[in-house]
Parts: sequence; structure tokens; C-alpha cells
Amino acid sequence: MRDQASALRQIVDNLKKQRTREPGQGARVLCVTSGKGGVGKTSISVNLGISLAKKGLRVLLVDADFGLSNIDVMLGVSPPYDLSYVLRGQKRIRDVLAEGPGGVMFVSGGSGMNELLNMSEIQLAAIIDNLLLLEDTADVIIFDTGAGVNPLIMRMVRASAETVIVTTPEPTAIMDAYALVKSITKYSPECELRLIINRAESVSEAEMTLQKFMSVVRLYQKVEIDRLGYVLNDPAVSRGVRIQQPFVLSYPRSAATRNIEAIAWNLLDRKPESPENGLQAFLAKVFKKNDDMR
Ligand SMILES: Nc1ncnc2c1ncn2[C@@H]1O[C@H](COP(=O)(O)OP(=O)(O)OP(=O)(O)O)[C@@H](O)[C@H]1O
Ligand SMILES: [Mg+2]
Repeated sequence: MRDQASALRQIVDNLKKQRTREPGQGARVLCVTSGKGGVGKTSISVNLGISLAKKGLRVLLVDADFGLSNIDVMLGVSPPYDLSYVLRGQKRIRDVLAEGPGGVMFVSGGSGMNELLNMSEIQLAAIIDNLLLLEDTADVIIFDTGAGVNPLIMRMVRASAETVIVTTPEPTAIMDAYALVKSITKYSPECELRLIINRAESVSEAEMTLQKFMSVVRLYQKVEIDRLGYVLNDPAVSRGVRIQQPFVLSYPRSAATRNIEAIAWNLLDRKPESPENGLQAFLAKVFKKNDDMR
């Protein structure tokens, strides 16, 4: 037991110390999450990823909605292996990297990932080592998570330097998004939060929802949430899902595509402020011992 624990500690220490690049130079890690399910996280992750790839960035999408993985369905590509093979030690991370349309790379989550938190230190150490290979593969790594209720998702959200919160203007989605923001600011005040309103009926509804949410968070949580943008309710989104072709590719002139483009430019405009970014810092925090992280 002692050997196992010290093996992990050593790897985590190395993650912190032995940076192969300067702080802030590693892959930019974004977690896309929401309070309520079904608000558009996967649609936004996939299309934003493709939009960034079109601008010349190397983008890796990680389907981290373990158990309900569907990035591959939206991309219309079904790779033979997923992350669970890496976790079981049957494949290397490079074997599960797949190429999606529009120049994005992606990794499917697969089921059983929640067992990650119960893994032995040695298993975790091997996985971290393996996942770190991804740092040099991408400029931006987007983790598409499930809704923020499960402990592993909360860990990922709290570990990432930048978290993108997606909500629709519906009061139920807004309440859940607010509860999530509250929890993140309580446990990870250093996490940079960015906001996207999805499925707004009009630009004015989108603007009003953005403003209201931001001011409530400012007033009661004393933090600034960055306004990343909005995506209008647009039939191109669900049509794209149905034909398994992301809308930025199948409907390049749609309103939703214009909205995603604007979000992509906004994202490129922002520089993560925390020196603790990059995949190394992310993994070190995700795999921190349970008692260090509520
Ligand atoms: N802007 C939009 N306009 C129209 N329809 C949309 C829009 N965004 C999402 N949808 C519809 O909502 C459905 C659910 O979206 P999506 O799967 O991206 O949500 P999710 O938040 O990832 O869900 P889950 O919590 O289950 O992972 C999509 O299949 C699509 O049909
Ligand atoms: Mg999803």
C-alpha cells in the first residue's frame, strides 16, 4: 500500500514540477458542463471544437459523459476503442484517438469511467502517465461532461482552469446552472467560469439571460462569469444531429454556425489567467487524493 501511494504521489509531484513547457504553454483545457441535462453541451462542444480546428488549432474532444457518451454519434464516426480500454490497460491512449470530421480529434469515453475514483494508486499512476501523452497532441482539449451532479464530473470541473457553463433560458436550467456555479465558486474560487446561453428564441432573450445570470452571480457569489456568447434555437442544430453531421459543417450559413463562430473568436480572445492550466495541472487535480478534494 505504501509503495502504491508513494508511486502516485511521485507522479503527481512530477506533474507539478517537471513542466516540459512554460506555465500557460500547455494545451488549453476546457470543461463544458451544465447544471441540467440536455441543454446542448455536446452540440456546443463538437461544433465549437470544429470551429476552432478550422482556425488552425489542434483540437481534441474528450467525451467525458461517461456512460452516456455520444460525441461519436454526433460526429458520425464510431471508433473501435474508447477510454475504458486505456483504463483497463488494454490499449494505449494513441490507439483510442480517432479523427472526426472538420479536422478534430476525439476520444470516446466509454462506460465504467466512474470506477476511476476507486482505482488503486498504481492503476491511476499508469493512467495519468498515459493521458499526459495527449498534452503534445493538442492545443485545446475540450472535455464534454455530463450534467454536474456526479462526483467525477465535479472533480473535472474543479480541476480545469476554464469551465464553460451551458444553460438554456428556461428557469429550471438557470436554477441548476446557478447551483452549479455556487458549488464551483465555493470549492474552486480560482476556476475561470464562462457562460453560454443555448437555445435562446431571440438575440434579445439571449442578451437578457446573459446579463441577468452574470449580475446575479456577481451580486451573490462575488465572482465574475465571463460572457462567452449564445446560440439561438435553430433547427439546423437538430438536423445536424439527425444526419450525424455537425451543423457548422452541414449548415455553414445557419444562425447557429454564426453564433458558434462568434463564441470561438471570443474564446481565442481570452487567455486563461491561472498559471495552473494545461493538462498536467488538470490531471494532477483530478487525481488528487479524495480527502484533499471535496
Ligand atoms: N441551439 C439549438 N437549437 C435547436 N436545438 C438544439 C440546440 N441545442 C441543442 N439542441 C437539441 O437538443 C438536443 C440535446 O442537445 P445535446 O445532446 O447537445 O445536450 P447535452 O447537454 O449534451 O445533453 P446531455 O446532458 O444528455 O449530455 C440535441 O440533440 C438537439 O436536437
Ligand atoms: Mg451530452
